[in-house]
Amino acid sequence: MKFFIDTANLDQIREAQDLGVLDGVTTNPSLMAKEGITGHENIINHYKAICEIVDGDVSAEVISTDYEGMVKEGEALAKLHKQIVVKVPMIKDGIKAIKYFSDKGIKTNCTLVFSAGQALLAAKAGATYVSPFIGRLDDISTDGLGLIQEIRLIYDNYGFETQILAASIRHTMHIMDCAKIGADVMTGPLKAIDGLMNHPLTDIGLAQFLADFKKGN
Ligand code: G3P
Repeated sequence: MKFFIDTANLDQIREAQDLGVLDGVTTNPSLMAKEGITGHENIINHYKAICEIVDGDVSAEVISTDYEGMVKEGEALAKLHKQIVVKVPMIKDGIKAIKYFSDKGIKTNCTLVFSAGQALLAAKAGATYVSPFIGRLDDISTDGLGLIQEIRLIYDNYGFETQILAASIRHTMHIMDCAKIGADVMTGPLKAIDGLMNHPLTDIGLAQFLADFKKGN
């Protein structure tokens, strides 16, 4: 299972990279705005800075909603760095753009996916990644993890190579549940990744080991 961090915060990206388990980064316009990164040039420079920190794929989202605009923007983003994956929304022109990028060997991440039908279409268009937003489905009393299960089944039925990138991960148990289902990738906040380390018995056991070591020395 690949671990991506879902943030545009460079300190958090560095921290996750330093842990040694990071496979990539996902961003979106809201995450950029949260870090105060606005304006075309600043956003482009920020993508470059992220690519300098991590070794893996970095999703950069197009803002255009028409086919021609997405193609132009996506091609420019892809030229920035070999790690850039063009993030395209799940709309009609987005599907056409994903097919175009796929034929040209440009990696894509189909975002804002909320149904198995959308995920099937993204795979047919040749998306590298499909991003079902599980947290946002949970927010409206809909089973986000159930969607991951459905997509896994459909992709396995036909051998689609599109990777399921579980997005809108909100907490550590989302990561664990996605791992059990077989999501290829999860993207979440640093806090959810850090949560995987925690267990009170680990803390108690370590304190005991250190206390016993002191007794004998
Ligand atoms: O990767 C998608 C993600 O950024 C959305 O997360 O928490 O805004 O639903 P959230």
